[in-house]
Amino acid sequence: MSHAGNFPNNHCMHSTTTDTLIAAEAPALAQSPCSPDFVSECGRVRLYLADCRDVLPMHGGVDAIITDPPYGISFAAHPTAGGRKRGQKSETWDNDTPNDTVLSLPAMAPLCVIWGGNYYPLPCTRGWLIWRKPDAPPSMAHGELAWTNLDQNLRAIEWTIAATREKDGYGLHPTQKPVRVMSWTMEQVMVPHRGLVLDPFMGSGTTAIACIRTGRRFVGIEKDPAHYATAHERIQRELSQGDLFLDLPNG
Ligand SMILES: C[S@@+](CC[C@H](N)C(=O)[O-])C[C@H]1O[C@@H](n2cnc3c(N)ncnc32)[C@H](O)[C@@H]1O
Repeated sequence: MSHAGNFPNNHCMHSTTTDTLIAAEAPALAQSPCSPDFVSECGRVRLYLADCRDVLPMHGGVDAIITDPPYGISFAAHPTAGGRKRGQKSETWDNDTPNDTVLSLPAMAPLCVIWGGNYYPLPCTRGWLIWRKPDAPPSMAHGELAWTNLDQNLRAIEWTIAATREKDGYGLHPTQKPVRVMSWTMEQVMVPHRGLVLDPFMGSGTTAIACIRTGRRFVGIEKDPAHYATAHERIQRELSQGDLFLDLPNG
């Protein structure tokens, strides 16, 4: 695969009892011919530094896809004044929408949530999710929308930009989502505990952090080596703080 030279996958396949258990629970992953670049010691987080188009065909059988793909609005190409001050560079990944890949996601899992789904020609749904940002300045969007494949009432969460910065740290990624919004997302679509969540556009790994904190398994894909490294470091730090997964009923 094209990414192999960028980031050798020398972390993979720790062999522990828990690993074996997880592999037995997730045959789709265990049979994957494509080795992850990182597998956590407990086996419940797997990461790929790759273009998701190369890896997705090997990842049927997940419980949920929860993702935040490029919106095609060039946001990362034009860092805000605050971002520029912190050295944020112009990035090109959200200059286009990867339509074919995103439109193929709902067929891959029983539960599917696509943040920024309003930028894609997805089927009609009642089940939109809204993240309202009460402290967004007039020049910014006052909220974001997620498409879901569920026939349920629209739901909304209010979460300030200030709270995101305070709780999650600022500037990990130009379009970083709050961990709270991602864990709320999983509650809204009822991702099962210990369920396997796939995020093919992982960025700084916010969906992974939400999975770790709420006792779900995670597989993430990110093609940018710098963002992959941020996610990898963030996830390792989170895992080192203790394993909620093992405390769950039936854990
Ligand atoms: C909107 S950002 C995700 C931000 C993330 N939710 C967070 O909180 O950090 C989308 C990410 O998808 C990545 N990306 C774009 N195209 C990709 C592809 N074909 N395969 C894998 N990653 C891709 C970009 O590098 C970017 O980091």
